[in-house]
Amino acid sequence: MLMQKEMKKDNTANKKVAFVTGATGQDASYLFELLLLKGYEVHGMVRRSSTFNRSRIDHLDIQENLHYGDMTDFASLVSIIDKVRPDEIYNLAAQSHVAVSFDTPQYTGQVDAMGTLNLLEAVRVIDKSIKIYQASTSEMFAGSKDEHPYNEKSQMNPKSPYGVAKLYSFNLCRIYRESYGMFIVNGILFNHESERRGENFVTRKITLGIADMLAGKTDHIELGNVTAERDWGHAKDYVEAMWLMLQMRFAEDLCICTGEKYSVKDFVKKAFEITNRIHGSDFSYKKNVVINEKFKRPNEVQTLVGDSSRARKVLGWEPKIGFDELIELMVKNDTYL
Ligand code: NAP
Ligand code: GDD
Repeated sequence: MLMQKEMKKDNTANKKVAFVTGATGQDASYLFELLLLKGYEVHGMVRRSSTFNRSRIDHLDIQENLHYGDMTDFASLVSIIDKVRPDEIYNLAAQSHVAVSFDTPQYTGQVDAMGTLNLLEAVRVIDKSIKIYQASTSEMFAGSKDEHPYNEKSQMNPKSPYGVAKLYSFNLCRIYRESYGMFIVNGILFNHESERRGENFVTRKITLGIADMLAGKTDHIELGNVTAERDWGHAKDYVEAMWLMLQMRFAEDLCICTGEKYSVKDFVKKAFEITNRIHGSDFSYKKNVVINEKFKRPNEVQTLVGDSSRARKVLGWEPKIGFDELIELMVKNDTYL
């Protein structure tokens, strides 16, 4: 008995500890699954909401390790980090909706820029050896039209309050790395989706719209800029890259993407094609999509496609789920097959 107890103690002592902000979000749910598989002790930060919003992580045995806090509340970050003493921090918390950042620019800056400053300062003061992954984004790019695909050396020239707040964090992470010798990496991730994607991002809006059409609730989907092009992957593949980045010998920033670009219109057409095949429906872009100006943004990065050759080389990473499979997974999930 005693031996077993001792062994358990030893195992616990050897376990790596990870702390994930944005614990209720899409990416955190897949990251938790990966870290648990790898034997980590995982902790997450959640913020208080009037109704419980933990559906993405309800299935995980981590409820006792969820801590209340907020990126805008320095004291909460200090207190959680001091208590948990993680080996690795994945900073995924953000007001992550680009269109909403035009409605709430100040708040977006407080969370996505100042929030990161709060986290970096907390780690600098408590324990500089804690490794940090920062959820940076392709929304920071937007050079000239000819510059695609974007890589780590491409010009950054964001077009939204979200993008500029993330660019502040990107640079701050670099500055803390260079100034204090901290292990901090920016994962410059391009769009990644999944069956757990937030319902007002375009891919999920489309697959949920299809579910409503099949149920006879509506006969169309309303969209904004359908000519915008994105480089879409699956979140499950992308959280693996996050973990791999924190296992590197030397910290560096990397682009994570598929290298393939499709327009929003392409996504809808493929989603209709899959639905028609599975459900025998007869949806078409011409008949079932309505353009609504309300969903267009004041400004927009028209094309986002990346080059992840550096990540593929140093991490040995590559995406496993392609465009068609991603859409099929999402359509099936939302149409209950
Ligand atoms: P998400 O589903 O929107 O999740 C965001 C998380 O941040 C949620 O848990 C949210 O909590 C939390 N959060 C928001 N404001 C907060 C605050 N003030 N304090 C503490 N937590 C807060 O986003 P995601 O798709 O998982 O993305 C994860 C990260 O990667 C984000 O930083 C995003 O900007 C970045 N990113 C995402 C993509 C992508 O395509 N998915 C690409 C590049 C970068 P609630 O549930 O309470 O709202
Ligand atoms: N959300 C939304 N709703 N987008 C629409 C719609 C609509 O009705 N109609 C067209 N779009 C277009 C947007 O204008 C954009 O060009 C594209 O669809 C994708 O929009 P989103 O799915 O909202 O994602 P995003 O590209 O703005 O931002 C996502 O990816 C970034 C990385 O490039 C988010 O996950 C960000 O957090 C992330 O940093």
